[in-house]
Amino acid sequence: MRAWLIDEAEHSDGMSLEEIKTPKPGPDEILVDVRAIGVNRADLLQRKGAYPPPAGFDPRRPGLEYAGEVASVGKRVTRHKVGDPVMGLIGGGAYAEKVVVHERDTMRPPAYYDHAQAAAMPEAFLTAYRGLFMEGGLMPGQWALVRGATSGVGTAALQLAHALGARSIATSRSRARLDELAARFKSQGMAQPYDLGLVDEDDGLADTVHEQVGGAHLVLDFVGAKVLADNMACLRDEGRQVQIGVMGGTKAQLDMGVLLMRRLSLIAMTMRSLPLERKIEMARIFDERLRPLFETGRLRPIVDRTFDFEAAIEAQREMETGGHLGKIVLVRD
Ligand SMILES: NC(=O)c1ccc[n+]([C@@H]2O[C@H](COP(=O)([O-])OP(=O)(O)OC[C@H]3O[C@@H](n4cnc5c(N)ncnc54)[C@H](OP(=O)(O)O)[C@@H]3O)[C@@H](O)[C@H]2O)c1
Repeated sequence: MRAWLIDEAEHSDGMSLEEIKTPKPGPDEILVDVRAIGVNRADLLQRKGAYPPPAGFDPRRPGLEYAGEVASVGKRVTRHKVGDPVMGLIGGGAYAEKVVVHERDTMRPPAYYDHAQAAAMPEAFLTAYRGLFMEGGLMPGQWALVRGATSGVGTAALQLAHALGARSIATSRSRARLDELAARFKSQGMAQPYDLGLVDEDDGLADTVHEQVGGAHLVLDFVGAKVLADNMACLRDEGRQVQIGVMGGTKAQLDMGVLLMRRLSLIAMTMRSLPLERKIEMARIFDERLRPLFETGRLRPIVDRTFDFEAAIEAQREMETGGHLGKIVLVRD
C-alpha cells in the first residue's frame, strides 16, 4: 500500500508518498480501506518535528482521522464485516491507503454523508464536544466564546453549542472571515452560526463581551499565550477556559490572584494522547449523542476544500497559508 512518510533528514520538513507493507489486523482489529482523511494542524506540526505521536505510532506517519470501508477483520471481531463504512480517530498514520484500528475504536458514519464529509467529523466534532461539554461543563443557555471560530474545530463548536441549547460568541482575526463564515452557513441552508461575532485582536474585546452578554461562561481557546489574559477578562466569575491548542504561543504570565478571586478554571485537553479505552468512550459518545444530530441535519461538517490523496503536500500548504473555513480533506478514488 502507499502511505505518506515524513522525511527523516535533519532540517527537512518534507514528506513523500511511498510503498510500504500493508498492515494485518490482529484478532480484535479491522483493516480499513481509507477513502478520505481529514487534514489537521497537528499534521503540519508533526511534519516539522514539533508534535510527536503517542507511543506505538510511527513519528514519520502523519494523519489523525479517516473515513473508509472495512477491508478485512480479525478473527474475534464481531461488530464489523467487510464493506461496512467506518470512520474514526487514530494516533497517527491516517495518510495511507489502509489503516488498522481496534474494532471498538471506530464510528459508523452518519447516513447521507459521503467519505469526505465523514472524514471531516471525528477530530473537529469530538474535540469540540469534549472541550465544551465534558471538560467545560457548558449548560443550555450559557455563553461559549470560541476563540478561532473559523477553524475546523471552531465551526464544529459553534454548531454544537447551538444544537445543545447554548449561545456562542465567535472570534476571528478578521471581520470579513466572520461574515464569510455566516455566508457559508447560509449558502448551505444552515442557521446563523454565532450569536455574536467579534474581531479577535480588537482592544476592548473583553469589555464588549461583558457589555453585550455579561461575560462568557466558557472560553474554548487554541490561540494560547497571546490571548490568555484577555480570555480570563472575557469570562464571568466562575467561568472556565478550555485550552485545546497553542497557535499563539505557549508561555504567558498568569495572575493566580485573579483566578482565585474570581473562581476561574483553566483546563487543558488533547484528544490524540487519550488512551485506547478513553478513545473508545469518545467513539460511543459520537454514536449515541452526535450521529443523530448529523442525521437530522442539526450538525454538518464544513468541508472547505478537498484534495487528491496524492496532493497531501498542497493540502497542508493550503492549511498553512490560512484562508480556509472549516476542514480540508484528502480523498482517494
Ligand atoms: N487538543 C486537541 O485535542 C485538539 C484537537 C484538534 C485540534 N486542536 C487544535 O485546535 C486548533 C485548530 O485546529 P484546526 O485543525 O481546526 O485548525 P484550522 O482549521 O487550520 O484553523 C486555524 C484557525 O486559527 C486561526 N489562526 C491561525 N493562526 C492564528 C494565530 N496565530 N492566532 C490566532 N488565530 C490564529 C485562523 O482563524 P482566523 O484567520 O479567522 O483568525 C484559522 O481559522 C489547532 O491549534 C489544533 O492544534 C486541538
